[in-house]
Amino acid sequence: MKAIVVYESYWGNTASVARAIAEGIGSGAQALTTTEATAAVIADADLIVAGSPVIAFSLPNEKMRESIRLKPGKAPTPPDLSHPSLQSWMAGLSKGKGRFAAFETRVKMSPGGATPKIIKGLEEAGYAPIGEAQRFIVKGKFGPLHDGELDRARQWGAELAKDMERS
Ligand SMILES: Cc1cc2nc3c(=O)[nH]c(=O)nc-3n(C[C@H](O)[C@H](O)[C@H](O)COP(=O)(O)O)c2cc1C
Repeated sequence: MKAIVVYESYWGNTASVARAIAEGIGSGAQALTTTEATAAVIADADLIVAGSPVIAFSLPNEKMRESIRLKPGKAPTPPDLSHPSLQSWMAGLSKGKGRFAAFETRVKMSPGGATPKIIKGLEEAGYAPIGEAQRFIVKGKFGPLHDGELDRARQWGAELAKDMERS
């Protein structure tokens, strides 16, 4: 099975979760930025797992990214804005026929989320859902991840691989 875990990440929390999910899925899985996950790379993927941080209660859009760039606040490092947003990556997708799963990183107590828009974007591109969308929790506005979240991400990856085998 070929699986691509594609992510948007400014401070590395979502990237770490993406790598843990890919580890959990096992051989044939790769965690890639939106730059690396080109149309050619994902063309024959059986499974796409897509994730992003929740910013301002939702999937980050260009306006939110610009606001983060201009006002990073008390961020521990400058935000990595070098890759396209997941939203624009999804808008550029060609028709796919594989399965998908969605995840987000976020603080515990917040309304909204990113996964509803990720689900919509991938469904519109023709992918069919597998597994339940997941939330991975960070301790502060910029992270780090709560203890145990990377283990949970690995476990979810392994479950997705099993679900794919059964489907
Ligand atoms: C400007 C800003 C806005 C945020 N808005 C939300 C929010 O509305 N809801 C939430 O749950 N987390 C919010 N967060 C927390 C981030 O989603 C969290 O830190 C995420 O893990 C960052 O991912 P990254 O390290 O991959 O960039 C916000 C963080 C920042 C810096």
